[in-house]
Amino acid sequence: MKLSLIPLALLSLFSLIPTTAAVKSHDFKTCAQSGFCRRGRALASRAAQAGADWDSPYSLLQEGLEVDSAGSTLRGRVQRSLYPHIKFSLQVDVLKDGLFRVRMDEVDGLKKRYDEAAKWSLVGEPELGSAKWEKGHKQVMAVSSTKDGEKVELQIEYSPLRISMWQGGKETITLNGRGLLHMEHFRLKEDPPAPTVEAAAEGDEQTVLEAPAPAERPSAWFEGADEDGYWSESFGGHTDSKPKGPESLSLDITFPRAQHVYGIPEHAAPLSLPTTQPPDNRYSEPYRLYNLDVFEYLADSPMALYGSIPLMHAHSKDGTVGVLFLTGAETWIDVARPEKGEGMSTHWVTESGILDLFLLPGPSPNALFKQYTALTGPSALPQLFALGYHQSRWNYISSKDVLDVQRRFDDALMPLDVTWLDVEYANQKQYFVWDKSNFPDPRAMIDGVAEAKRKMVAIVDPHLKKTPGYFVYKQAQERDVLIKKSNGQEYEGWCWPGASAYADFFHPDSWTWWRGLFRLGDGKEEVKEGEGWNDSTKDLFIWNDMNEPSVFNGPEITMPKDNIHHGGWEHRDVHNINGMLFQKQTSLALTERETPAKRPFVLSRSFYPGSQKYGAIWTGDNDGTWEHMKVGLPMMLTLGVTGMSFTGADVGGFFRNPSPEMLTRWYQVGIFATFFRGHAHIDTKRREPYLLEEPYKSVVRDALQLRYAMLPVWYTLMHEASISGTPPIRPHYVLFPKEEQGFAIDDQFYIGDAMLVKPVTDEGATETTVYLPEDQVYYYSYDEYTMYRGSASGTHITVASPLDKIPLFYRGGHIVPLRLRPRRSTPLMAHDPFTLVVALSTKRTAEGELYLDDGESFAFQEGDLVWREFKASKAGKKGLKITSQDKVPKHPTEAVYGVDLSGKYQQQNAYAKDIEGVRVERIVVLGLSAAPTNVHAVLGDERVELQFKWTKGSHAEGRKNQEGAASVLIIKDPGVSITKDWEIVVE
Ligand code: GLC
Repeated sequence: MKLSLIPLALLSLFSLIPTTAAVKSHDFKTCAQSGFCRRGRALASRAAQAGADWDSPYSLLQEGLEVDSAGSTLRGRVQRSLYPHIKFSLQVDVLKDGLFRVRMDEVDGLKKRYDEAAKWSLVGEPELGSAKWEKGHKQVMAVSSTKDGEKVELQIEYSPLRISMWQGGKETITLNGRGLLHMEHFRLKEDPPAPTVEAAAEGDEQTVLEAPAPAERPSAWFEGADEDGYWSESFGGHTDSKPKGPESLSLDITFPRAQHVYGIPEHAAPLSLPTTQPPDNRYSEPYRLYNLDVFEYLADSPMALYGSIPLMHAHSKDGTVGVLFLTGAETWIDVARPEKGEGMSTHWVTESGILDLFLLPGPSPNALFKQYTALTGPSALPQLFALGYHQSRWNYISSKDVLDVQRRFDDALMPLDVTWLDVEYANQKQYFVWDKSNFPDPRAMIDGVAEAKRKMVAIVDPHLKKTPGYFVYKQAQERDVLIKKSNGQEYEGWCWPGASAYADFFHPDSWTWWRGLFRLGDGKEEVKEGEGWNDSTKDLFIWNDMNEPSVFNGPEITMPKDNIHHGGWEHRDVHNINGMLFQKQTSLALTERETPAKRPFVLSRSFYPGSQKYGAIWTGDNDGTWEHMKVGLPMMLTLGVTGMSFTGADVGGFFRNPSPEMLTRWYQVGIFATFFRGHAHIDTKRREPYLLEEPYKSVVRDALQLRYAMLPVWYTLMHEASISGTPPIRPHYVLFPKEEQGFAIDDQFYIGDAMLVKPVTDEGATETTVYLPEDQVYYYSYDEYTMYRGSASGTHITVASPLDKIPLFYRGGHIVPLRLRPRRSTPLMAHDPFTLVVALSTKRTAEGELYLDDGESFAFQEGDLVWREFKASKAGKKGLKITSQDKVPKHPTEAVYGVDLSGKYQQQNAYAKDIEGVRVERIVVLGLSAAPTNVHAVLGDERVELQFKWTKGSHAEGRKNQEGAASVLIIKDPGVSITKDWEIVVE
């Protein structure tokens, strides 16, 4: 249904909702309140003030420097002029495809630095490559190459130690170029403090800013004069005992060719990361990576949020490179544009752990996605239902409520796949234990939902109510898998259930135990408490929230850093990894609970590199404001380019009551997130979309139906992400890495390569400006088929965007598969026919793909799948040929990530047979300039005449700057199967 314009006066009434709530900033540290960050920034400012007189005290000793016989690994010793008796090891690995890994650790230190971040994050030991090494007087150099044969050089200068990567004769990444490398060695509290500059200069008036000659330098010149926050630190009434003393690591990483840096989620910030250092800095704090439960977070801030991915992309039209800084500890990152010259400079300071840094050569965004994916693994292919619409709120209060909600979706003709239960389902917040007064027969409820071909999700948080009567807590205690305090006693913190203990997922003994808790009964016999989950079924999936972990009475609403995990490691070392391991075990639990296994669905709030393998994440407790709706877009784009493909934000905003206009627009945004869920705080008013008045209700219904129509697109893109790490939603710089004007664009994006959307996130908007970056391509509006043409220098078009319109376009040159029959939920679409939209380029060509499988099992890994490639090409002067071919790689070398289909896949596989009857019911060709005289299908030797309707457009093929109605050719019921090869000829 189309709507007329909503009167502006009416719309502005809805903006009167108060906007007073805000983050409690005093709960969270600034850099100046964190000892090691303060020290790191002070080091940077001493260096900046010393200018050219500053040099790094770190050098690589030539003596003992070795490269192994395969040319894969260099090993050496690093010496520091500060405390010459302390040594460091440096190891540089040449990895396959032109990557390098740089590791540094203290040798024979008083304590051990944490070195297991890679173990939790990487899919395995990265495959070594080999380089040609050349040792010179001043440096040692390795020459390797990318997958495409581009030369990548790594130069390691001895003194001061400086490491640089070179590509195409240009320096692309520099480590320690600014001399900020510093690994604070372990020391004893009793050790005498470093001599001050004044003492060293014997009364001279010299200050730290006037750098003394290297030979005379006291340690304080580099480290600072006082032991700032070395041995304990207090914040917000909590004291961190710091039993290991200072051990932070500082490193400057410069990208001399870059114009923009992206990545390092999670922050509510633009895609192109604004600078945090003068001049022109938008933020004055560094970006912080420390997984935190931030209540009412700001919509524009470098403050830490729930997850951390220390991966940064640095981009310019010359290329893209990346760094993955694998640390599990709290990390702060300053970003600056040097005043003189080009490039981007960054400064990383992390609280603990070894240096374990991966240099990724790109040189394109797509190459970078593959390189990162090869290290940390591809995102999991979800079940199809998980791409449908999820309806959540804190809380659906009873079984009756749940069943009512889904009935009302049906009555409103709104599709729905999943209904969610938040913490109130659990008796006294004891997860796995239902509140039987409101959910008397959970299995019957879930079965009732499943009858309508839908699923449920229940929350299971990591805090365990500390009461002997709670079997989960008791079992964890018996198995000794709970996190400990620094004194070795069981740690107690406060969360939803009150006093809580926390299972330690770093402890291998917790793994099988946790997974066992999800074991299902066989339907005949009850599962005994503690041996599985009796009140669950295969249709109940899981939400792992609060896994930063959130501790209401802990420092910064999390766990004390001196808590102890398995292996004796401090929480400080592993904090950012913690949440991922919880989601991992839950996800394995769901995979194990059925035979044959079904793909798991687990939503997590906290994440780390590698989390993409275990499920979806969402952007936490956003606010029901236009600013939060807007910032959700760059947040998802950033997550996408750092490997997290399955993400979304609470539609409607978690806090506050959105106006009908805001809620409607939020649905129009949410349908373009891979994870699409409406969710709300317990204090908000009910806001299920069927409650909306007209015209909003119909507009939201249209949006939901558009999401479902596009499910073949989303599923195909999730499949692509699962084999190459390429994000389903793509920012401009990914598609047009040489087109500078698009590098900072984050309010419009591409869905795959084939569609462009600019969601409306402004109140009262009636028109929207869209940027079209390319020549030679038409963009066609998805609903009216109005055609626009961009230009190589960039064109801005203005399109009408009243409430019922989403600025969404087919990109010329692409074929988009849709399923246009409205259904209640995804399983009901399994045998629905397809519509193919062929959006022609100015050259009269187009291509696209479609991936299908049973949408739930792992049979696709055995070759039970349908993967088609569609192509449209010129035939004759004005005609067209459209074909469908098998896209499954024919050779093992082309095997998709992790799954080698060679010898397994056959076009006539069980799944393909199951959907053999599924046809293409319509082909819509946009942009064909001349009227066809005949359309026929070629099926083997057979020629079948087809019916068609052609509507002339207002354009002529190849003409520039043409805007107007596109010509539309509709080929009706071409009678071709979606699983088979075919050809359709337009003459
Ligand atoms: C956290 C979650 C939120 C959830 C609430 C209650 O705030 O982020 O989504 O509703 O906890 O479980």
